[in-house]
Amino acid sequence: MTTELIVVLDMDSRAEALAAVNASGPCQWFKIGAQLFTRLGPEIVKEVQGLGKKVFLDLKYHDIPNTVAHAARAAADLGAGLITIHASGGCAMIEAARKAVEGTATRILAVTVLTSISHQVLNEEIGFSGTPEETVKRLAAQAVNAGAHGIVCSPLELNITRQVLGPEPLIVTPGVRPEWASRDDQARVMTPREAARAGASMVVVGRPILKHPFPAEAVSLILEELNS
Ligand code: C5P
Repeated sequence: MTTELIVVLDMDSRAEALAAVNASGPCQWFKIGAQLFTRLGPEIVKEVQGLGKKVFLDLKYHDIPNTVAHAARAAADLGAGLITIHASGGCAMIEAARKAVEGTATRILAVTVLTSISHQVLNEEIGFSGTPEETVKRLAAQAVNAGAHGIVCSPLELNITRQVLGPEPLIVTPGVRPEWASRDDQARVMTPREAARAGASMVVVGRPILKHPFPAEAVSLILEELNS
């Protein structure tokens, strides 16, 4: 199984985003999230695709099934290769999203528990019982059974979610740092090689590439490591 690389486009302007795409050499995938999309809208998705690249539209939909289905279809019509929904939106929402993208090339990833959510917050504020790991396993399995093509999880949960889900579903993970890169604010990281071995289908990387003096070189090093 090859592990693909996705470069993060977390910036505010069109110029910065397109410069990052152009600087990222052979990388095929770019993640556009709420920040860039809210600034620039669908046009930036089309522009990145116009450069021959694929877009992971990370807008984490969580709403009633009908609304999420229409949003998912709109993302598919825009040509997004990957989109995200919240697994905690429930099975009916996930099933509706899946049905809405049927017949397109768009793949749906479910976000389980955000890594910013602690055990205490999960139990006491959100009201989910169990540890974050138990919750991730439960939500991941449920989301894939309901029709999600895969999930997003932290490097720490890669092994366990791959065990639970089996070989088919996509598992996409951020928090990846090559040995030569700074960890920045990422507390729990894996190298690209470790993430690939632990079962990641795709890794999401931002600063190690975007802050590198030669981003295309950083991309090549990471791609080599992912598939060595
Ligand atoms: O620069 P860096 O490689 O840390 O960027 C990681 C990307 O993945 C950012 O877009 C960040 O918002 C996202 N992300 C993350 N950790 C999570 C979920 C998403 O770093 N748990």
